[in-house]
Amino acid sequence: MIFLKSALGIEKETHMSERKLVGTNEMFKKALAGGYAIGAYNVNNMEILQAIAEAAEETRSPIILQVSAGARKYANQTYLIKLVEAALATTTVPIALHLDHGADFEICKACIDGGFSSVMIDGSRFPLEENIKLTKQVVDYAHARGVSVEAELGKLAGVEDDVKVDAKHATYTDPEEAARFVKETGCDSLAIAIGTSHGAYKFKGEAKLDFERLAEIKKAVNEVVGYDFPIVLHGSSSVPKEFVAKCNQFGGKLPDAQGVPEEMLNYASKHGVAKINIDTDLRLAMTSTIREFFIEHPEKFDPREYMGPGRTAVKEMVMHKMRDVLGTAGHADD
Ligand code: G3H
Ligand code: 13P
Ligand code: ZN
Repeated sequence: MIFLKSALGIEKETHMSERKLVGTNEMFKKALAGGYAIGAYNVNNMEILQAIAEAAEETRSPIILQVSAGARKYANQTYLIKLVEAALATTTVPIALHLDHGADFEICKACIDGGFSSVMIDGSRFPLEENIKLTKQVVDYAHARGVSVEAELGKLAGVEDDVKVDAKHATYTDPEEAARFVKETGCDSLAIAIGTSHGAYKFKGEAKLDFERLAEIKKAVNEVVGYDFPIVLHGSSSVPKEFVAKCNQFGGKLPDAQGVPEEMLNYASKHGVAKINIDTDLRLAMTSTIREFFIEHPEKFDPREYMGPGRTAVKEMVMHKMRDVLGTAGHADD
């Protein structure tokens, strides 16, 4: 047994060798039964990871740490895995490590071989048959190694890894197609398009999500699989007004940024959505805080002095999601 002091000052026992990543299937089953959703937070560096891990520990929440192709390119997969190992060693809550938006079989394989407990194969840009074929190839490889697979059907508007889809080319997920897709691919969870989108500009005017479609997709998919099937919502940042205002006040330029209202995410988490993806809000919390610091302390140049408050802001943001929006808080020991 080892005593570690975490980055944000919590001292606790850790059982280094006993702690392993968990799969997402177990997490989703409990979340669906309990009427809450697991937040999947994107990790790009040490401070973001520490903030999420500390928030999870303090609120007793299970978490999914997710890594995009861009994160792997920026930070190097080996660094990210070692940081996640550190999170396992310094916390006591269930942690899954997930590949976000895997574009092809090779990146999924690299992550599965590297020790991830879950991967996403995103074939949503392909025609249905091609998406089914690619997803099935990943499912076969992943399941043989005990790794779960998220797939995507329907096209979200927005930007991810430099791929831009404008609102005109976004297509909502069809319930019957979703049922066929899940049955034929054997995927473990499905990301659907019902009006969310990536980034800080999600709606022009009133925010709207197609919850009727969510209910139809749930019904159709549950009927073919015979159990409550986990649905995933990407593009679920709320883009809080106060963080946008703070960015703009301290030299940023984010005109008309708008996200998914928190009540809608809360509703989704109680109506069959088991995983909710959040990245933009973490970026806003970190950036607005650092912008403020630079303007208020032009004489400072020690990175710890601005990364520290940035990290604290991300932690507070994530704790708020867990407690007040997704309902994950208190479910680490379910
Ligand atoms: O889906 C997009 C996520 O926010 C990841 O973004 O591709 O810039 O790392 P990224
Ligand atoms: P946001 O851009 O709304 O944070 O969505 C993140 C996401 O879906 C990551 O896959
Ligand atoms: Zn996404």
